[in-house]
Amino acid sequence: MRPENLRFFTFTIFTVLVLQVDSTQPPFSCDSSNPSTKTFPFCKTTLPISQRATDLVARLTLEEKISQLVNSAQPIPRLGIPGYQWWSEALHGVAYAGPGIRFNGTIKRATSFPQVILSAASFDANQWYRISQAIGKEARALYNAGQATGMTFWAPNINIFRDPRWGRGQETPGEDPLMTGKYGVSYVRGLQGDSFRGGEINGPLQASACCKHFTAYDLENWNGTSRYVFDAYVTAQDLADTYQPPFKSCVEEGRASGIMCAYNRVNGIPNCADSNFLSQTARAQWGFDGYIASDCDAVSIIHDAQGYAKTPEDAVVAVLKAGMDVNCGSYLQKHTRAAVDQKKLSVSEIDRALHNLFSVRMRLGLFNGNPTGQQFGNIGPDQVCSQENQMLALDAARNGIVLLKNSAGLLPLPKSKTMSLAVIGPNANSVQTLLGNYAGPPCKLVTPLQALQSYIEHTIPYPGCDSVQCSSASIDGAVNVAKGADHVVLIMGLDDTQEKEGLDRRDLVLPGKQQELIISVAKAAKNPVVLVLLSGGPIDVSFAKNDENIGSILWAGYPGEAGAIALAEIIFGDHNPGGRLPVTWYPQEFTKVPMTDMRMRPQPSTGNPGRTYRFYEGEKVFEFGYGLSYSDYSYAFASVAQNQLNVKDSSNQQSENSETPGCKLVSDIGEEQCEHIKFKVTVSVKNEGQMAGKHPVLLFARHAKPGKGRPVKKLVGFQTVKLGAGERTEIEYELSPCEHLSSANEDGVMVMEEGSQILLVGDKEHPVTIIV
Ligand SMILES: *[C@@H]1O[C@H](CO)[C@@H](O)[C@H](O)[C@H]1NC(C)=O
Ligand SMILES: *[C@@H]1O[C@H](CO)[C@@H](O)[C@H](O)[C@H]1NC(C)=O
Repeated sequence: MRPENLRFFTFTIFTVLVLQVDSTQPPFSCDSSNPSTKTFPFCKTTLPISQRATDLVARLTLEEKISQLVNSAQPIPRLGIPGYQWWSEALHGVAYAGPGIRFNGTIKRATSFPQVILSAASFDANQWYRISQAIGKEARALYNAGQATGMTFWAPNINIFRDPRWGRGQETPGEDPLMTGKYGVSYVRGLQGDSFRGGEINGPLQASACCKHFTAYDLENWNGTSRYVFDAYVTAQDLADTYQPPFKSCVEEGRASGIMCAYNRVNGIPNCADSNFLSQTARAQWGFDGYIASDCDAVSIIHDAQGYAKTPEDAVVAVLKAGMDVNCGSYLQKHTRAAVDQKKLSVSEIDRALHNLFSVRMRLGLFNGNPTGQQFGNIGPDQVCSQENQMLALDAARNGIVLLKNSAGLLPLPKSKTMSLAVIGPNANSVQTLLGNYAGPPCKLVTPLQALQSYIEHTIPYPGCDSVQCSSASIDGAVNVAKGADHVVLIMGLDDTQEKEGLDRRDLVLPGKQQELIISVAKAAKNPVVLVLLSGGPIDVSFAKNDENIGSILWAGYPGEAGAIALAEIIFGDHNPGGRLPVTWYPQEFTKVPMTDMRMRPQPSTGNPGRTYRFYEGEKVFEFGYGLSYSDYSYAFASVAQNQLNVKDSSNQQSENSETPGCKLVSDIGEEQCEHIKFKVTVSVKNEGQMAGKHPVLLFARHAKPGKGRPVKKLVGFQTVKLGAGERTEIEYELSPCEHLSSANEDGVMVMEEGSQILLVGDKEHPVTIIV
């Protein structure tokens, strides 16, 4: 027996003894009560994470290694390592979906913040950060209470809301790449615990965030094409300035510890098998140092549905070689061994993945023994559904809800003069609609009907439709109720029977007989009515915009556990609405564009009118950034540090491969020079109204000369101000021309173009000239 084998032998005996004493898996790795394991180098917290991970991986047998490549990672009792569940969800609060979290112990609920699309409408990055910080704390409290078998959360969803029909658009912060990137950064920093150094390379993580779905994923199932087989044809130009920027920010600035590769293919290659995206772009170019998970069953489909891989083993080889680390599903557990035996895969590819996986688990503190007394170990159940978190959920809804129409100042309704209120519509008393998808059990929940009842005692509820689908409506009944009330609030819109994961919409108009019901009720009512829309995606409500019987329209997204309270406060004037739309609201006619057409830029030959406010030039129901308030705000450019930006550098030659005259590749200008030419823009804002309010101020830029695939305009900065009636303030934006005034050329390279650009805030413009 060689010494090596001898060691193995003693080990085996020892393991057997341990198992006899205690057959259950250990609760924590590196537990000090387990003398056989705590001496391993991978347990030594004084060693660098990378060294600890290397030590651990080297101790595993091939079977053990393979057992770690799937979301339900098996325990390794001989090394004192418990099982680990990679899959948990926390999109807008710790959620049910994902087997890593159980609400069956001390903690039975979690704060349910508004669905992301509504939080986005506040344009308040600080608020986004505070929300995910709260989610991260609640997640850690669940772990400490023994109700989590993992701390890796598969959020945020930072795909661009490219098409208004997308069922998962509600999960995203909208259609703008800069804003989506900023949302991703805020979410990741808050959840991972930026203040706990969760953004440092190998720094400790409160919880782990995962930027998904990488990349160009934004179609569920449309006209017979499902996300599992969809091959998204994406141009280099669109990839560079639409699809990739949020992921770049999420990794570079957010320092996310996870990425999820998407189901779909991009230009023929399945995302999870694309080494150009996973290894060259994310890891090498952006410096990503976390783990990459597949979407659930996204590996099996590479063989089973897409036929991209000839055999299951080929699929396994393709994803591991591309740089994926863990498979949601069981495909890698089933087929990796055969891939190794067939010599298609070397064990070093597996080790590479395991190193990433165990590094993240170690950063989460899960190899430091009992967490009590450790950095995140004292976050208790009292941190879940705390007053503070519930207030934050309410605030997020208040700041997100968008006032779309308010003719003749119908809103706010007078509290004292409204003696009776009819509350009509299928969403008036629905609990499920308020939460949106990927929700958890809310701390407490108030429906719109209940919230309105707390203002007006004499409230007459009437659903009017059999369901949100509204294939059958009781229009006469609704009309009678409306006739008898001083005011009418209609609570209509969508829910998860219309839009959700796996389900895109076919139409943009309201489902079934909803529109007919609204028009009839509005016509019969004593006063113009208030129309409230609950939905993730935009709805073509042109009819309501133009109907004088409909005085006001509010969009409230899916506003979360406290959203109905915020809605009632706005309706009765206890809160001044300030949200602005994070997506373009298109007319129904837009649905003639195939959802499968990924092009952002208009293409006359196919009839594609372009997508999102950056490229779409057709009719809009409401535009990106639109939103009224009970106050008016006025803007002025107070100062712009430089009107002429000289990007020229004495040593810098015109690049050889830059063929457009007067056009300089940003990559040639260099980071340092970009730092150099940052400049400040100061905008003054005044609340011209009678009511204090919170107001997001959006700064856009556009080329003086449109065309050549340039965006119509693009968001370059946003900030939120709180202003009392008549109050004025100044906001400073720092612009980096390399980031904000550049655009993607057809090769997918960001370039600076010589000439004039215009800065825009509200109806005010300010020119800047770029000299290259
Ligand atoms: C909660 O559910 C998990 C998974 O089903 C189970 O293992 C655990 O024992 C349950 N805990 C309680 C307290 O019921
Ligand atoms: C839907 O698919 C059918 C069959 O492939 C095709 O004929 C039709 O044009 C598609 N619809 C749209 C709106 O593209």
